[in-house]
Amino acid sequence: AEKKGRVEFRDVTFKYPGAEAPVLSNISFTAEPGKTLAIIGSTGAGKTTLVSLLPRLYDVASGEVLLDGVPVTEMDSSEITSRVSAVPQKPYLFSGTIEHNLRFGKPDATDEELWEALETAQAKGFVEEKSSGLNRRIAQGGTNVSGGQRQRLSIARALVTKPNVYLFDDSFSALDVATDARLRKALKGKTKDATVIIVAQRVSTIADADEILVLDNGRIVDRGTHDELLETSPTYQEIVES
Ligand code: CTP
Ligand code: MG
Repeated sequence: AEKKGRVEFRDVTFKYPGAEAPVLSNISFTAEPGKTLAIIGSTGAGKTTLVSLLPRLYDVASGEVLLDGVPVTEMDSSEITSRVSAVPQKPYLFSGTIEHNLRFGKPDATDEELWEALETAQAKGFVEEKSSGLNRRIAQGGTNVSGGQRQRLSIARALVTKPNVYLFDDSFSALDVATDARLRKALKGKTKDATVIIVAQRVSTIADADEILVLDNGRIVDRGTHDELLETSPTYQEIVES
């Protein structure tokens, strides 16, 4: 069977409600199953806005966002949430156990699936370190775990749902470079058939992506692989040197 999870943006423009100027202009790209698409750009460039259009946190002003050829505006929200897992820039944990937090998107997941997701997300050790394990209590907003632990639990939660598309919005920024690298290697093995879209600040996080979009002021100013962009993109070079 053909792999699912092809994401296409066609000439997308977006304005926040009430705003005058568009935050995204003429955004076109395709992200394919089995591949990793990365988005990089300075703060305020529009990265979070861009990835929020696929799960329809907002709808486009013009243009189209398609999932496997179907405009997301024609899909019902339960179908989108079952097929697209987004790890938000500020991941949210609920008051409750780790298990409760991990099962959020897939209530019938087995314990084995939870542990597998934790292992991929490099969070297994953290959960095992207390005898309460999966029953360990998380405070509202995840205030009793560190930023990096919150990110990893949130990544594990996304993995549990086994979606066609993963959106990681700056999900590796609180991790040290070695954990970041380990996590992404493990992730690669577990997401072979899925489309992976990674927003990042750190070039090392996305250097091995199949394609990188360089976003500046709501526009894609350059695109290519890491090596290509090093040659062709002054904006990318600036990010590399920063
Ligand atoms: N913005 C807005 N209303 C919102 C969210 C964002 O007007 N509810 C604006 C921001 O002020 C910014 C632009 O939209 O000018 C793009 O924001 P965002 O997509 O969040 O930028 P990122 O590239 O994600 O920035 P960062 O790297 O800081 O996460
Ligand atoms: Mg952002």
